[in-house]
Amino acid sequence: MSKIISIFNQKGGVAKTTTAVNLAAGLTLHNKKVLIVDMDAQANSTCSVGVDENELDVTIYDLLNSRNLSKEDICKAIIKTSFDNLYILPSDITLSNAEITLANALSREHILSKIIKKIQDDFDYIIIDCPPSLGLLSINSLVASDSIIIPVATSYFSIKGIKHLIDTYNLVKDNLKEDLEIEGVLITMFDSRKNISKDIKDMLENTFNDKLFKTNIRINSKIEYAQDNSTPVVFFDKNSNGAKDYMNLTKEVLGIE
Ligand SMILES: Nc1ncnc2c1ncn2[C@@H]1O[C@H](COP(=O)(O)OP(=O)(O)O)[C@@H](O)[C@H]1O
Ligand SMILES: [Mg+2]
Repeated sequence: MSKIISIFNQKGGVAKTTTAVNLAAGLTLHNKKVLIVDMDAQANSTCSVGVDENELDVTIYDLLNSRNLSKEDICKAIIKTSFDNLYILPSDITLSNAEITLANALSREHILSKIIKKIQDDFDYIIIDCPPSLGLLSINSLVASDSIIIPVATSYFSIKGIKHLIDTYNLVKDNLKEDLEIEGVLITMFDSRKNISKDIKDMLENTFNDKLFKTNIRINSKIEYAQDNSTPVVFFDKNSNGAKDYMNLTKEVLGIE
């Protein structure tokens, strides 16, 4: 049985995709077989693992709009990346239609969950990269997950945004997925020279206590270079701070000291 984790925050630019891709890549370095599910029409995680969004035959959007899919149908959409043990269920711009096309679908909040159930035994971990919204695609991601990781960028922090996010989590937990857990809150783009970064860290420690990951992801330009090279930073430059921080996060998720 695999563990399914959503990287969830309705704010854009908080390192959801970076976290999804590098946690997934980090897990493969611990011999885990990992699937990334790209639930964002911007297809950033698809591109970040070297898959060209313009050359896809089938995407997550097609699966979400089909009914009675067989396991074989779903497997056809999954792409093996050039990195060992790393697979992706890709998206492209067509996914931006989903909020409309799925609005009246039967049990519309459970569509992704049903798709993932058919293939989850094939993987050790499934990491879902959520879109920057609290709409149906994010709800589908949460319902399909065992737990969520909430990346919080200290440079773009908004207390209102966090409150909204926790409200949505509670709504899903109370009505759709009783056992949905918070894996952890992750500080991203941390800059120890800036007081604002430290203040926000203190505040998150007080709010989330042991749910805050010990690892902070520091600001590191290698992360952007890696993305430009369509390679997760943990593979691109394993000695960079970005790679070290994401490998430490991976260990925390695996429960390894
Ligand atoms: N720790 C970091 N240091 C520097 N740049 C980062 C870091 N994390 C993410 N970025 C960059 O910030 C931008 C937004 O990150 P991304 O993961 O795409 O956020 P989201 O998926 O939440 O919109 C990207 O260009 C990414 O390369
Ligand atoms: Mg993203």
